Amino acid sequence: MVAADLLVKEHRLIERMIPILTKETFRLHEGGEANAELIVSVVGFFRTYADRCHHGKEEDILFRALASKPLSDEHRRTMDQLTEEHVVARKLVGRLMLDQDRCVKGDKAALAAMRQDIQELADLYPRHMGLEEKHFFIPCMDYFSAVEQAGMLRAFTEFDAKIVHERYVTMIEDLEAAGKAKALKGRTRNRARRSPGA
Ligand SMILES: [Fe+2]
Ligand SMILES: [Fe+2]
Repeated sequence: MVAADLLVKEHRLIERMIPILTKETFRLHEGGEANAELIVSVVGFFRTYADRCHHGKEEDILFRALASKPLSDEHRRTMDQLTEEHVVARKLVGRLMLDQDRCVKGDKAALAAMRQDIQELADLYPRHMGLEEKHFFIPCMDYFSAVEQAGMLRAFTEFDAKIVHERYVTMIEDLEAAGKAKALKGRTRNRARRSPGA
């Protein structure tokens, strides 16, 4: 297995999200209400798997290693384009979460924005992954020796292991912060009750 194969394997999971997104845009187009549970799952998948885990390996390991190689103009242009598309994907996912918040608050216009953002995500990813697979990953492997490629594969595996820990450390920190904020609010309320005239 070359390092690029692992990234291609991850694409196969990401592309399974596309028909789910397309079906949701169709449902919204037919007048359906926002499905909060689905949006939370979609946002979680794109943030953790597609962005942190998959784009993370591409940007932090593959692109970084390629940056020190004598890339052809075409490969350098493609790498810049792919990096820009990661930024666009991040923005779309952020917007989708905001659309959901607006829907919860009863903003009817948010449904059309949600449909549009889901559609853009469903259009962007197949194009992006196609470009990587057909014109980038495999030719770029030629810039690396067999030893460098094996090292990259190891780095990918270590990166994945780090993500699991990172994710749950963040979850515990968020829960601790929420608990502290709640306790502080309770103390402030009790103080106000004890000294109403203050
Ligand atoms: Fe990518
Ligand atoms: Fe990719």
